[in-house]
Amino acid sequence: MTIRAQVAGIGHYLPERVVPNAEFETKLDTSDEWIRTRSGIERRHFAAEGQTTSDLATRAANAALADAGLTAADIDALIVATSTPDLTFPSAATMVQARLGMNQGFAFDIQAVCAGFVYGLSTANALIVSGQARRVMVIGAETFSRILDWNDRSTCVLFGDGAGALILEAGEGGNTKSDRGILAVDLHSDGQFRDLLYVDGGVSTNSIGHLRMEGKEVFRHAVEKLAATARTVMEKADITPEEVDWIVPHQANIRIINGTAKKLGLSMDHVIVTVQDHGNTSAASIPLALSVGKSEGKIAKGDLVITEAIGGGLAWGAVLLRW
Ligand code: ACO
Repeated sequence: MTIRAQVAGIGHYLPERVVPNAEFETKLDTSDEWIRTRSGIERRHFAAEGQTTSDLATRAANAALADAGLTAADIDALIVATSTPDLTFPSAATMVQARLGMNQGFAFDIQAVCAGFVYGLSTANALIVSGQARRVMVIGAETFSRILDWNDRSTCVLFGDGAGALILEAGEGGNTKSDRGILAVDLHSDGQFRDLLYVDGGVSTNSIGHLRMEGKEVFRHAVEKLAATARTVMEKADITPEEVDWIVPHQANIRIINGTAKKLGLSMDHVIVTVQDHGNTSAASIPLALSVGKSEGKIAKGDLVITEAIGGGLAWGAVLLRW
């Protein structure tokens, strides 16, 4: 018998305020047409004043618990992947834990920028497979609107706020690729590329800072590295591209999503795309896309799903799972 980390429930939350591209036209030298054609983004959600990352995360967590038919008392560990926590400490995860009324178990944050959710899934898998936890909730939650430079048209039009949560639980498998649950994981980072995408402030520099990005360079790395990491998880699990039901990529740019699918030889019919409605929500983008994909009746039990992401660091990776 093999222990597998299997999906028990999923949910998401998006802040009420929807900002269409046109709203930027009034403040910046930009256009709906430029944003759409260069990124695929049509609108994004922004958190209300005073609404924090743990607010969004808690709502997503409650939606995932309802989907799973569980309560917070059933969760052993809570991981929040975020680069925009409410406070320097304690972690956003412990804030969510308190708001869920969860007094047992343990909670912590993971910071791997846009790859944070994939890193979180990998960590949850390790906790479950090693027997340290039976049920783990992994949340990706961000308020990137707080770190955008509203005068920098090359970045501020690309990002949004939101949260998604996935509950994984220990289940039995037969050590074959037909098992439900996480079948393969691949993680990477390379700090020599840290200047391509970063926030120019932080705790030990005494400022919050703003997001800075060499978009063209990040783009160049993205397609190459995302296709490679997706191929690696397929090889590890002995899966061919034809067997994959859904690719659920990090939602940064439709051209990166198209380019990666093409490199993998997969038709866009097998790709979940939400970037038009959410923009780039960093660590929240994959659980948001998984949740939307499931609620639209696309992702179903037994489907083979690959998630892949790249972000600041650079940090990147992929997880292959059977839903
Ligand atoms: N409106 C109008 N013009 C603009 C805008 C805008 N909002 N932003 C930039 N431009 C201009 C530029 O100034 C430039 O003008 P110039 O030629 O006169 O200098 C021109 O448009 C072209 O700019 P490029 O940067 O070359 O445009 P590109 O086609 O590369 O698209 C983009 C830019 C969308 C940022 C793209 O490079 C991209 O998506 N990169 C990857 C981003 C990404 O994947 N991030 C993922 C990780 S995010 C994370 O980890 C937090």
